[in-house]
Amino acid sequence: MSGKGVSESVPAEAAKRATALRDELAQHNYNYHILDAPTIPDAEYDRLLRELEALEASYPLLVTPDSPTQRVGAAPVAGFAEVQHAEPMLSLGNAFSDDEIDAFSKRLRDRLIAADVETPVGLAFLAEPKIDGAAISIRYEYGQLAQAATRGDGMTGEDVTHNVRTIKSVPLRLQGAHAPTVLEVRGEVFMPRAGFERYNRDAAERGEKVFVNPRNAAAGSLRQLDPRLTARRPLEVFFYGIGKVEGWDVPLRQSEVLKCLEQWGLRSCPDAEVVEGVEGCLDYYRRLGTQRDKLAYDIDGVVYKVDRRDYQRTLGSISRAPRWAIAHKFPAQEELTIVRGVEFQVGRTGALTPVARLEPVFVAGVTVSNATLHNIDELRRKDVRIGDTVIVRRAGDVIPEVVQVVFDRRPQDTRLVELPEYCPVCGSDVVRPEGEAVARCTGGLFCAAQRREALRHFASRKAMDIVGLGTKLIDQLVDADVVRTPADLFRLTAEQLEAMERIGRKSAENLLAALEKSRETTLPRFLFALGIREVGEATAAALATHFGTLEALQGADEDALQSVPDVGPVVATHVRAFFAEQHNADVINDLLACGVRWPEVATSISTNESPLYGKTVVLTGTLSSLSRDDAKAALSALGAKVVSAVSSKTDFVIAGEKAGSKLAKAEALGVAVMDERQLCEWIGPSLQTDKLGNA
Ligand code: IVH
Repeated sequence: MSGKGVSESVPAEAAKRATALRDELAQHNYNYHILDAPTIPDAEYDRLLRELEALEASYPLLVTPDSPTQRVGAAPVAGFAEVQHAEPMLSLGNAFSDDEIDAFSKRLRDRLIAADVETPVGLAFLAEPKIDGAAISIRYEYGQLAQAATRGDGMTGEDVTHNVRTIKSVPLRLQGAHAPTVLEVRGEVFMPRAGFERYNRDAAERGEKVFVNPRNAAAGSLRQLDPRLTARRPLEVFFYGIGKVEGWDVPLRQSEVLKCLEQWGLRSCPDAEVVEGVEGCLDYYRRLGTQRDKLAYDIDGVVYKVDRRDYQRTLGSISRAPRWAIAHKFPAQEELTIVRGVEFQVGRTGALTPVARLEPVFVAGVTVSNATLHNIDELRRKDVRIGDTVIVRRAGDVIPEVVQVVFDRRPQDTRLVELPEYCPVCGSDVVRPEGEAVARCTGGLFCAAQRREALRHFASRKAMDIVGLGTKLIDQLVDADVVRTPADLFRLTAEQLEAMERIGRKSAENLLAALEKSRETTLPRFLFALGIREVGEATAAALATHFGTLEALQGADEDALQSVPDVGPVVATHVRAFFAEQHNADVINDLLACGVRWPEVATSISTNESPLYGKTVVLTGTLSSLSRDDAKAALSALGAKVVSAVSSKTDFVIAGEKAGSKLAKAEALGVAVMDERQLCEWIGPSLQTDKLGNA
């Protein structure tokens, strides 16, 4: 195809570049649509496509019928029957800025005016999340699911009826008496994030292939030949439109169409809204942008559709994308960059985490130069080497991670990463117990990295809450060898502190006062602060209430430990091992000698007699007399298991002010609902203990 039809007026470089882009895009298209194994992020694909579009716009003679700018999607693969869509499945134009949305709205208005349509000032749009999954068209005949097809190239898709029938949110038969004779519904099949994570965890445990992201998981699952495999995938669907329809007087508005679909049991996205004009669209975009990371499913933007279907008809479509709709994309969460090195960070428990040092790259609004590779097994599985081009992903507050290597771009001279034999910080041996993914430094508190992390944890808000003792100061104190164990903190002098960088007389005094205050603590906080493996806040509280005193806990054997709610064999082993270690006993004695103390733990209600012992409790709404964290700790201390979701297994829901959907669900399921007064009666004694310590 190269050169064919290129006139003298097209520069040779432009023609060459267009061919190269077309070939590269064709390959990526195949990887994405046929193999379900993309090797570059969407943002990079979009950039290549835009470059080609720009070239073709400057030199229209460069356009070929097979250019990826001239079609949508890729051809179906062998193995699935072809399905001709009765009406084409359209694609969407993309916008990346507010200005492009403004231009979109102006284009609409001009066309409508030209067509003599009287448009209101604030044109109504249906705004919806753009779900990151796989498009589907499902045909119902006389209310029965007759056929389901992928989009394919928009005209011809693949028959995936066998797989779609396994998706529980797809009705096999429409509800209600007035279903149309023929109804083609269009929507997006997706894998919710929680299901995706669970699925990948299980798949990795079984040694099976894991998916790179929820979208690939959805697309890959739809294109399974064996529906039994698809049935095990946690797929869901949201419907957002219709294709061919017979025997239904379709309502005037898109939003009303969705309501009818809902009545037939075809669910649409609950986060869709009718908004007014450009303002309404942009406001929706911003609101959804702030919620993006909290949604249960991945989205890559929002879609605005002119709500009135008569206007949609007037506006029509152009090259398989409707003029009446547009996708407003969010900043990409995945980008390409190069791995310059891999270092191992040592955590509080000695765990070695490989961290990729990257060529800095701008992802979702920040510059990323480090990304986690989780552990050595992950690094091996992804086959990340120094010099590789990789996809980095940053979503919300989550630490940026290396998603995958772009093998097409691997240079000859990459370097393999080896697990170090000795700790990069202290030089102690690194061990990796059989069957464990995590390698650890054996240096314990001899290792400066572990010491730093242990001290950070000890001082943190939910532990000893030493206000003003931040990461930087801890690093300095450890580096200067002034502080080796937590007890050393309580022996610090103003002179020692003032010798540190950026610490003046005033901050030294403030810190000493904070240390003085933190000496008076609670047993749960103290136990949590010790940093025993697997002992989080709730477990620390449960241990404290069960045993009442530190001595009783120190003397408990594994059986005694396991009689505490939620303490299993693993936690029991870690607790035993911690107290058995002489070094830890020394640190504890030293801390007590430094004046660390706590009030007696209320054992007036022995845990076994507690009305909450072994019960599953959900907290919802706002509590007025105490914080959510304190309520949770106090409930755990009474033997309750505090969880976040309401189900039929929940024993009590404690509802504060403005309780919403969880309260409604509890009522629907007949779960007992308590108010804050009841909560305070239950936790009164243990709460007081906590308050004392915090005072
Ligand atoms: S409407 C009439 N609405 O995005 C226009 N598409 O880039 C047809 N998608 O193929 C699409 N969420 O797979 C529409 N709320 C939504 C969507 C959505 C996700 C996907 C769909 C489509 C692609 C176009």
